[in-house]
Amino acid sequence: MPQDVSVSAAPPIQGSRLLERLESLARIGPIPGGGSCRLAFTDDDRAGRDLVVGWMRELGLEIRVDAIGNVTGLWNVGSGAPVMTGSHIDTVRTGGRFDGNLGVLAGLEVIQSFQEHGVTPLRPMAVGFFSNEEGARFAPDMMGSLVYAGGLDLEEAWACEGIDGTTVGAELERIGYRGDSPVPGPAPYAFIELHIEQGPVLEVEGYDIGAVTSVQGISWTEVTIAGQSNHAGTTPMSMRHDPMLVVAEVGVFVRQLAHRYGGTQVATIGRVELHPNLVNVVPARAVCTVDLRNTDDDLLTAAEAELAQRCDELAQSEGVEITTRRLARFAPVAFDERIIETVETVAVRHGHRVTRLPSGAGHDAQMLARVGPAGMIFVPSHRGISHNPAEYTEPDQMIAGAAVLAEVMYRLAHEDHLETGEPS
Ligand code: HGY
Ligand code: MN
Ligand code: MN
Repeated sequence: MPQDVSVSAAPPIQGSRLLERLESLARIGPIPGGGSCRLAFTDDDRAGRDLVVGWMRELGLEIRVDAIGNVTGLWNVGSGAPVMTGSHIDTVRTGGRFDGNLGVLAGLEVIQSFQEHGVTPLRPMAVGFFSNEEGARFAPDMMGSLVYAGGLDLEEAWACEGIDGTTVGAELERIGYRGDSPVPGPAPYAFIELHIEQGPVLEVEGYDIGAVTSVQGISWTEVTIAGQSNHAGTTPMSMRHDPMLVVAEVGVFVRQLAHRYGGTQVATIGRVELHPNLVNVVPARAVCTVDLRNTDDDLLTAAEAELAQRCDELAQSEGVEITTRRLARFAPVAFDERIIETVETVAVRHGHRVTRLPSGAGHDAQMLARVGPAGMIFVPSHRGISHNPAEYTEPDQMIAGAAVLAEVMYRLAHEDHLETGEPS
């Protein structure tokens, strides 16, 4: 870790205000169990956006809404490209209260605390929320930040069809967030994202802060299986061409593959649709999704090839037709070493136990890493649960993470001076 320099720390954040805002946002799209459902570009997403934009306006930030609906609030002080933070406020259907929301609202809190304490950074500061980070309604995930970073063509993103038959462009228009600002967006000086870990490592191993080293590779495939609908009672088993059997076989296969690969390999069948989905009909068609991830891109590619091979075998043995469609494919992304070290230094300076770890989940920071130095700060997730209303992080842990974010942003905004040791 770099030699700690004696700089005045960032001003103190107001933890209670951060917690209040998290509560206010969680009340938009509430679901049983205390979580939220704000699928991208729905009315609930719009309501969440309006709430956060209102808070940005209260801080006098310059609001930028781009053509894919990413929203950035810029505190235009100092000079040069901004130090940027942010995350997302869209959720999965069974979303928790903190996934994404913590990073956006902590960024807002950091800027407000600087303003209230009269600390004007040498660089501008920005906080943003990116569209459709979850990718649950419209794949791929991290769509907004990917377009922001120039990794996905805007027209292609607008044309993307969701699981409900709508398109991104039409829904963005409908909720009034198809902005005028161009994409790709302006590259920040550096990007730092605070996020809950969404996994068990920090809690199990007794750490307060995670200095995130990378994001693992992500592969999403939609598998469509066309069989023959038939009568459940009269059709002999030997005459069946049953897509549901294929879904079951693929499910067992990817679980066994993950065990065979070990390490960080994970595999999930998250979405299954049957047609006609009736008790007494052998299905005509099944659609399922396969989510494969690994920190090693070669292994992820090998897993994808095995899945394709298994689908071919099942198409033969069950006499069905299988087509696949790639929904997302991102190679692992390494974060900026200088930022990782800064997170470690600040966490230690704040008296926290900190460790380095890769992210199992995808994040907007991995897309911003395409256009500049990026990094992440993790805080623990209780029992590693996320994408579940039971998602929980202790208030003190979130406040600690936001305070680390404040000082990391402070240092990034002053590092030209830090290195010379000049007091800032
Ligand atoms: O899928 C992910 O990892 C993220 O939650 N979008
Ligand atoms: Mn997230
Ligand atoms: Mn998520």
